[in-house]
This record gives sequence, C-alpha cells and structure tokens, in this order.
Amino acid sequence: MPSIVLNDGNVIPQLGFGVFQVPPADVADVVTAALEAGYRSIDTAAIYGNEEGTGQAIRASGLPRDEVYVTTKLWNADQGYDATLRGFDESMRKLGLDYLDLYLIHWPVAIAGKFVDSFRAFQELKRQGRVRSIGVSNFTVANLRRVIEETGEIPAVNQIELHPGLAQHELREFHAANAIATEAWSPLGQGTLLEDRTITAIAGELGRTPAQVIIRWHLQLGNVVIPKSVTPSRMAANFDVFGFELTPEQLDAIDALDRGGRLGPHPDSFTVGL
Ligand SMILES: NC(=O)c1ccc[n+]([C@@H]2O[C@H](COP(=O)([O-])OP(=O)(O)OC[C@H]3O[C@@H](n4cnc5c(N)ncnc54)[C@H](OP(=O)(O)O)[C@@H]3O)[C@@H](O)[C@H]2O)c1
Repeated sequence: MPSIVLNDGNVIPQLGFGVFQVPPADVADVVTAALEAGYRSIDTAAIYGNEEGTGQAIRASGLPRDEVYVTTKLWNADQGYDATLRGFDESMRKLGLDYLDLYLIHWPVAIAGKFVDSFRAFQELKRQGRVRSIGVSNFTVANLRRVIEETGEIPAVNQIELHPGLAQHELREFHAANAIATEAWSPLGQGTLLEDRTITAIAGELGRTPAQVIIRWHLQLGNVVIPKSVTPSRMAANFDVFGFELTPEQLDAIDALDRGGRLGPHPDSFTVGL
C-alpha cells in the first residue's frame, strides 16, 4: 500500500475507504468487510451518524490500533474553539478510540467566521496527542490562506470533491506549493463516471474495471483517495489497483474529462448546520 508523508511527518495510506451514506445499522458490517478486503484507512464524519459502528468494527477487528488509520470530521454546528473541543470528545466517545489519526474541519462555513478558532482547537488537540494530524475539508484557496496566516500552521490535508469531471487544478497547485496533501472525496463521481466512454475504453484496453481505472488515475496524480462501496465485490475490486499502471496518454485522456462539474455544493455556499 503506497502512502503519503504529510507535512507533519505522519503517514497516511494513499487508498482508504469512505462511509458517507452507509446507514448506522449497516456500518459495522461494511467496515468489517472493508478491513477484511485489506483497507487500512477509514473515513467517517460526525454528521454521517455512523461513528459508533465504525469504531466498533475497528475495535472488533483485532488489528493493532496503529495499523488502522482513522479519520473523522468536525460538523459545522460544532465550530468555534470550545464547541470544537466538545465535538471532538463526542466523536471519540462514539468511536471508542483513545486517539484519532486525522481530524478535519468538514466545511469552512466562512460566513460563520469560526474556522480559525476551530483550527486553533485542533492545534490544542494535536498538542495533547489526542489527534495525530489536523486538516480541513472543502477549503478554498482563500480559506486555506486565512487559516495558515492566522494560526501559523499549514493543514496537513484538504479533503475536497475531486474526480475526473472536477480536477481541481487551482487547489491542487496550491496544495503542492504548500505541502498540503490532496484527499479526493466522491473520487468515482459517486458512480456517475463509470460509464464514461473514455473511462470504459481505457478499462477495456487494460482489462480492468472503470472504477479501477479512476482510482489508478487518483493514485498516479498523488491524491489520497477514499472510494465508498457497500458491495463486497466492488470493495475488493476497488482495492485491487496496485498491479497495473495508466500510461501518460491514458492519464492525459482522463485529465481531458475535467468540466469543472460539481456533484456536491460549492464550499462558499454550504452553510447547513449553521
Ligand atoms: N468531506 C466531504 O465533504 C465529503 C463529501 C462526500 C464524500 N466524502 C467522503 O468520500 C467518500 C467517497 O465519496 P462518495 O461516497 O460520495 O462517492 P464515490 O466513492 O465516488 O462513489 C460511491 C458510489 O459508487 C458506487 N461504486 C463504488 N465502487 C463501484 C464499482 N467498483 N462499480 C460500480 N459502482 C461502484 C457505490 O455503490 P455501492 O456502495 O452501492 O456499491 C456508490 O454508489 C465518502 O464515503 C466519504 O467518506 C466526503
């Protein structure tokens, strides 16, 4: 499993598993299946409502804690210094873990003017050793500049919507210049890109599935990538991406699919939970 060294020296597996929209009642079985398929990085969030089952599956797996990389996210309603500390305690209670690998501010909600205070609380949690790495999600370049200028710390990760239809060139360049790891959410375009003719043609050339081709594109770009599937055969296939490579021409053909098309909301206008 290739990994990415973060700007704080910690290491994140490049391929992980996301549990957005996995129902709380199913998540323990789904995470158990993902761990059995070989995934060693799980991405959840307070707002997904499934931290409890996620933590339960990780604890029941018998894997040493330091062999599973765990990410969760601070929900918008919990922004602000003290509320962030409370939100963290609640997430950790639900996960049932004694430290977290990566904590992300889920959305900037810049209009609330609290993300800098939340990141200061993250710095305190990191100082206390309760979180190994601190980062953000859905931050624009302007949001990133502000958090860096006001806290003096560069987030380790920015988790953003990123797939062949939304290649996020501006953010990826800013991340590269500032040693911020790019983590791709909805990396398969929520499944919408799997029938794209360019993707299916490359999959045909390689004898691979369309999802494997897209995951490989992310890996070769240097993204951290966290596809989600509740289907065991897809979970396993999505993990079986280390035995082949895309050629430069195939990468270029996938790059050309960028239309700047979002499936999720624009970070400047997302204020749910405020
Ligand atoms: N930070 C944020 O704001 C944010 C926002 C959205 C997502 N995320 C994170 O990113 C993770 C992934 O994003 P996502 O769940 O939105 O979308 P995604 O991973 O791009 O796509 C998931 C969809 O693709 C299907 N799928 C997966 N593998 C497939 C395969 N091999 N063949 C055919 N279909 C396949 C899944 O179906 P089945 O499950 O039915 O198999 C599901 O419908 C989330 O789980 C979450 O952890 C973060």
